[in-house]
Amino acid sequence: MEAAHKKEAGKTAFAEYDYSNFYYGAGDDPLNLLKPFSEWYAEALPNGYYLYSEPLQTAPTTRVTVKNRKNGKLVDLLNLASYNYLGISYRPEVKQAAIAAIEKYGLGASGSPILSGTLDIHKELEDSVASFKDKEAAILFPTGYSANVGFISALMRAGDSILLDQYSHASIVDGAILAKSKTTFFRHNNPMDLERKLLKCTGKKLVVVEGVYSMDGDVCALPEIVEVAKRHGARILIDEAHSTFLFGQNGRGVAEHFGLDKEVDFHLGTFSKSLGGQGGFVCGSKDLIDYVNAFGRSRFFSCNLAPMIAAGLKAGLEIAENEPELRAKLWSNVAYMRRRFAEEGIDIGKSTSQVMPVLINNDARVFAVAEKIQDRGLYLQPVTYPAVPKHKSRLRISISAAHTEAELEFATQTIGSVLREEGIIQ
Ligand SMILES: Cc1ncc(COP(=O)(O)O)c(C=O)c1O
Repeated sequence: MEAAHKKEAGKTAFAEYDYSNFYYGAGDDPLNLLKPFSEWYAEALPNGYYLYSEPLQTAPTTRVTVKNRKNGKLVDLLNLASYNYLGISYRPEVKQAAIAAIEKYGLGASGSPILSGTLDIHKELEDSVASFKDKEAAILFPTGYSANVGFISALMRAGDSILLDQYSHASIVDGAILAKSKTTFFRHNNPMDLERKLLKCTGKKLVVVEGVYSMDGDVCALPEIVEVAKRHGARILIDEAHSTFLFGQNGRGVAEHFGLDKEVDFHLGTFSKSLGGQGGFVCGSKDLIDYVNAFGRSRFFSCNLAPMIAAGLKAGLEIAENEPELRAKLWSNVAYMRRRFAEEGIDIGKSTSQVMPVLINNDARVFAVAEKIQDRGLYLQPVTYPAVPKHKSRLRISISAAHTEAELEFATQTIGSVLREEGIIQ
């Protein structure tokens, strides 16, 4: 591996490699992994990989100040990268609630939720989430990632079958690995392929889908998937990380949007996207939540959410509930951006949501294109394998209700002009 990398080292050799080239190393020492990777990384960084983890110096509002990792300069950019879809994370009510909680409780929960780490504010947040989602009960996890890992492994065992969309988020895949069930991937959003795979499954069956797919922005074909899953006696888990608080008449998510809230068995979400906070949750019947409380290891072997986060989330949830105009503004921004991107000939694949991939489909070029766009004032992220399949690289854009049309217009024109200069569009 090391030799191969050195042999090809040249102007663009870094782009021939991705993390998968460095999974295995020679010899018996785990430290052998480090040198080939650090040599490649040293070359990759000045070639555009530096665009990851550039420290923001401000709140994730629509304008951010970012420290350019290449030259150390602070730059003021239009933010198209944060998940703050409703602009809630920096609302004064949210900040005040978090400040009041820190005055009352101090910094952290200082304990596991099943031991000393459950505070009244956690219970209040769980009740608010359950009521918002119109379910009997809800349970908190430290992150959305741990909600998937903990919930799936709490419910499924060796000998059972888990069916995952091929574009499932890593947290869903990791939950299935931990459950040690037989895991089968079906073609993305393809109910016919799900059916073919279900026919070969044994044991308890769980189908996992996402409301909105996080890298493509397309919406789950839920009616067809529910129909197939039910016909084959499979239960359905929907991860609404990118759709809770946005879709459906009451903002409950894609299941509500399709009128299938009751048909879907398990509902999971995160607080890190539309509420701009942190944490994950599962909601459903009281029996289900009691079971998850007892078997969700990623929850109870971890400290509970910081009380200031729980308090901020409760205030954010009230905003999401009481200000449906935020959702309306988001959807009008999405419609504006979709129309303008179409007029400019910018390909966003099958996205119909606030997550828009600008498809570059060339792992070597996506960094150069992202760098040029950032130099012209936009903060957005290049995404490559393993977050998306190889050669499906893209620039990932998140639209927020907080964006103005003038900001979205500037973004469209900037992206359009760079893609034209690069010969990616006409
Ligand atoms: C579909 C999906 N599920 C779960 C997660 C994890 O959520 P969190 O960032 O809150 O851990 C993400 C995060 O991007 C996601 O896209």
